[in-house]
Amino acid sequence: MKTIMNSSDLQKKAAGEKAAEFVRSGMTIGLGSGSTVFWFLKRLGELINAGLTVRGVPSSLRTEGWAREFNIPLTDFSKTQLLDLAIDGADEVDPYFNLTKGGGGSLLREKIVDAYAKKLIIIVDESKLVNQLGKFPLPVEVVPFGWELTSNRIAELGAIPQLRVNDGEIFVSNNGNYILDCQFEKIPNPKELHNQLKQMTGVVETGLFIDMTDLVLVGSTGKVDSLKKKE
Ligand code: 5RP
Repeated sequence: MKTIMNSSDLQKKAAGEKAAEFVRSGMTIGLGSGSTVFWFLKRLGELINAGLTVRGVPSSLRTEGWAREFNIPLTDFSKTQLLDLAIDGADEVDPYFNLTKGGGGSLLREKIVDAYAKKLIIIVDESKLVNQLGKFPLPVEVVPFGWELTSNRIAELGAIPQLRVNDGEIFVSNNGNYILDCQFEKIPNPKELHNQLKQMTGVVETGLFIDMTDLVLVGSTGKVDSLKKKE
């Protein structure tokens, strides 16, 4: 049976496949998470089958599963401390390359992987580009113990936090934590908000990725654009 892809899927596929062109033999690559990254992994697997030699560090158990399916050799931070390149998706990208991530709940491992890469390439479809972050509820990873208190503290910053639930069950991250999806509507100062949240007891990590991205590849109809960063 043939799967019918909508325009967003096609854009994700185009961006993911384009990112594989940045990979060189010998590199150790940070493997991000999400449906756009899936297409990068699939293409990377094809290049590996054709002779490319790379190793990857996955940022989620789901990515690890896909990487194994596509025969991508894996390694971890006990064997390598610096990645040559990381490829990851995003939920929102602003003109300054600030990101909201964590829609898939992998923000903590993604941030570790992305932070230890010499270069971070973000791959998105057009719908992810925004003038200001905030429409997409900001995922915040919190310790399960006392999450209600952490949620109340976050609400004091003007957000409506919602405990993430999947199929009636509390969503538990790959690190055993909960995710609070925090609706701010507008995040005029992402760095300040990130710092405020990180100071709260109970907060493990935020989905705000500031000053980390080197390149944004945007899949659009029939092409992939490299976004120009606003300074
Ligand atoms: C997962 C993420 C993803 O990169 C983000 O949600 C984008 O996903 P997709 O490519 O499926 O739209 O941060 O935690």
